[in-house]
Amino acid sequence: MQHLGTDLARAASVLRSGGLVGMPTETVYGLAANALDEVAVARIFDAKNRPHFDPLIVHLADWNDVDRVAADVPAEARALWAALGPAALTYVLPKRPEVPDLVTSGLDSVAVRIPQLELARQLIASAGVPVAAPSANPFGFVSPTTAQHVADQLADQVDYILDGGPCSVGVESTIVSWPEGRAVVLRLGGIPVEVLADVLGYVPEVQRSSSQPSAPGMLESHYAPGKPVVLVPQGFDWATAPRSPEVRLLAWSLGSHGLEALTTSGSCRQGAQRLFAALREFAASDEQVLWMELAPEEGLGRAINDRLRRAAHRAEG
Ligand code: TXA
Ligand code: MG
Repeated sequence: MQHLGTDLARAASVLRSGGLVGMPTETVYGLAANALDEVAVARIFDAKNRPHFDPLIVHLADWNDVDRVAADVPAEARALWAALGPAALTYVLPKRPEVPDLVTSGLDSVAVRIPQLELARQLIASAGVPVAAPSANPFGFVSPTTAQHVADQLADQVDYILDGGPCSVGVESTIVSWPEGRAVVLRLGGIPVEVLADVLGYVPEVQRSSSQPSAPGMLESHYAPGKPVVLVPQGFDWATAPRSPEVRLLAWSLGSHGLEALTTSGSCRQGAQRLFAALREFAASDEQVLWMELAPEEGLGRAINDRLRRAAHRAEG
């Protein structure tokens, strides 16, 4: 039977019966299971080869369900929801005991997201359960932005892949937490910090990544294509780059350099949409090194650069 398709009822029934679904969202595809079913959640960690210290995001169909998983919701979280609605934004909130420790890696908080993609919300609503889903890639590898990307890497581990087309945002959600009252951004993502600042009335602190993270999505070496990536600044003089069949050169936007580029016109929106597919293409190619130009350090460009720096980072020693 076909493993990948657009059968929403089938995907929902797989979730209800403890199976794994490749779930489309506007950010990246998720590897989804019933968040309240520990056996199903354990299968997510196995399928991804993901360490158990790295907690999962719980996806809901509607904000009204937030009280099913969160014990308390700060006023600022409510304000963000009121302003943005379903979006590429994840809220870290105090957790209710009903959420299995496996989902939150034993933390007393739970990460909650209501995806913007309507098909994702329909799937969750029709499954009738909160849905735990990390990005549907092997741990440490590039996140999937099409159903085929999921099939390429996790076909044997998922029971069904729901095809919702290519992801419109292309980078993961922004994660916000309220450790001491004020909002802190734990991961840059699809909702730019500037947008959060407009709603909050102040610029939230962005937590620096580290190789020994408290929130493990902050691992420095992540999104890795498995080969070296050399990052060059915006406006780089490409005439100085090495030319060889071993080296792939990817400019930020098309221009007089005549090279292949991530975007046609320099739009960060387009850059984010194409980012992970570009890294995958390099990973699958015969080229040994990728030279790639960073995005402008603003708006969605900051999330793009964050992913690129992690892709380029190689653990020392
Ligand atoms: O856009 C997204 O967020 C996608 C789609 C599928 O929704 N999901 C995603 O999941 O990117 P994942 O597992 O690849 O990244 C989730 C991040 C992890 O880095 C984890 O450390 C962090 O969320 N996280 C989860 N629960 C947390 C918690 N209670 N406190 C702090 N960080 C948490
Ligand atoms: Mg991930």
